[in-house]
Amino acid sequence: MSNPASTPNWANRTIWTGDNLPIMRGMNSESVDLIYLDPPFNSKSNYAAPISSEATGAEFKDTWALNDIDEAWVNLIEQKHRALHRVLLAAQTKSDKSYLIYMAARLLEMRRLLKPTGSIYLHCDLTMSHYLKLVMDAIWGRKLFRNEIVWCYDTAGRTRKFWNKKHDVILMYIQSKDYLFNSVKVPRRNLEEGWESWYRKIDKDGRRYQIDGKGYKYYADEGRLPNDWWDDIRALHANRDKERLGYPTQKPLKLLQRIIKASSNEGDLVLDPFCGCATAPVAAEQLGRRWVGIDISPKAAELVQYRLNKDEIGTLLHKAVRREDIPQRTDLGKLPKYNCKENKQFLYGKQEGYCAGCIPPERFAMHNLEVDHIVSRAEGGTDHLGNLQLLCGRCNRVKGKRGMEYLRAKLQMDSSA
Ligand SMILES: C[S@@+](CC[C@H](N)C(=O)[O-])C[C@H]1O[C@@H](n2cnc3c(N)ncnc32)[C@H](O)[C@@H]1O
Ligand SMILES: [Zn+2]
Repeated sequence: MSNPASTPNWANRTIWTGDNLPIMRGMNSESVDLIYLDPPFNSKSNYAAPISSEATGAEFKDTWALNDIDEAWVNLIEQKHRALHRVLLAAQTKSDKSYLIYMAARLLEMRRLLKPTGSIYLHCDLTMSHYLKLVMDAIWGRKLFRNEIVWCYDTAGRTRKFWNKKHDVILMYIQSKDYLFNSVKVPRRNLEEGWESWYRKIDKDGRRYQIDGKGYKYYADEGRLPNDWWDDIRALHANRDKERLGYPTQKPLKLLQRIIKASSNEGDLVLDPFCGCATAPVAAEQLGRRWVGIDISPKAAELVQYRLNKDEIGTLLHKAVRREDIPQRTDLGKLPKYNCKENKQFLYGKQEGYCAGCIPPERFAMHNLEVDHIVSRAEGGTDHLGNLQLLCGRCNRVKGKRGMEYLRAKLQMDSSA
């Protein structure tokens, strides 16, 4: 536990308001045990909470349009993540492509944040699940894919024109083969006809059991690990479920409890980077886990505190730590000043004297190049050599504190104008 790489640089129960990309960039590597994310689904709608619900004011965009910055992201991904780049090319529309780029950039950070024993659950629906599977395969590798969980529910709204779409998809990947998994049990139902025949033996108390090849006894009444389709957790309903706050796309606590119990232990750290009205943080709190949540909507931070104060958590009352800043990583050791002579010499050799921006490429004498943060510190970028480059004075001025994707887009536009 004393490994500095796994020490989080934020307090337990932190709720961040802001875009999760720069915030995650500023978080220490290998510092979380479980990530659950329920991002916008690319559903082409804008969600808004009904007036007079707890969540009034919550609203988020779920429509996407490809812009120059997105195209520049594709170029950057092409250089560093070839397999992922091929997946982005499979997008059918500009809007899909833009959405996948947005997700890919964030999933790359999540891959860095998980401990080797960790797991990630990506909650999505049929709109993009197949594309997201490919993105996840490219980032984690197919060998680390574990499940496509199908969460079945029944809600109002029906069609007679085709089968009613009443399920979500949750993709589960593990960070390494050393992952943690606890067997959670649910009651055995009569659904599986003839299951009694699997438990032929009956003990003196009348309990049915079977013995597996290794000599273990399994009792029928102990319940069993659910299959990868879950139809025993209902979607929240306005008139019935008191946990419902009216936050658009709020998920049931029971769903999150199942995931958190299976893929973390007490005291472990759960991250939800799209936490909405904080269902994952609340479930984590109930189960004695530590947590951190991020949402771009300030409404989320309010709702977290509201829910922590409510009896959902039982008798425990906790104050969430609210943050809006970009954290600075503390797991990189003591680094020399970013623009020191050694860094400049190293980068000059690596770039062979070329400016990392100019289109077409241009060479400069060392004193005409400036050390630049590829991802600015304000966006969670570090002083680490891996985040540094040399730019000519002009490129550095154009880029300012923005990302390389901005500089590339701007230079491409200028060169084709
Ligand atoms: C599908 S909802 C999550 C619902 C949540 N699981 C719950 O139970 O309440 C998606 C959330 O992502 C947030 N969001 C969208 N883009 C974001 C971004 N770039 N960074 C952080 N949060 C974002 C939205 O504000 C919205 O609350
Ligand atoms: Zn330049």
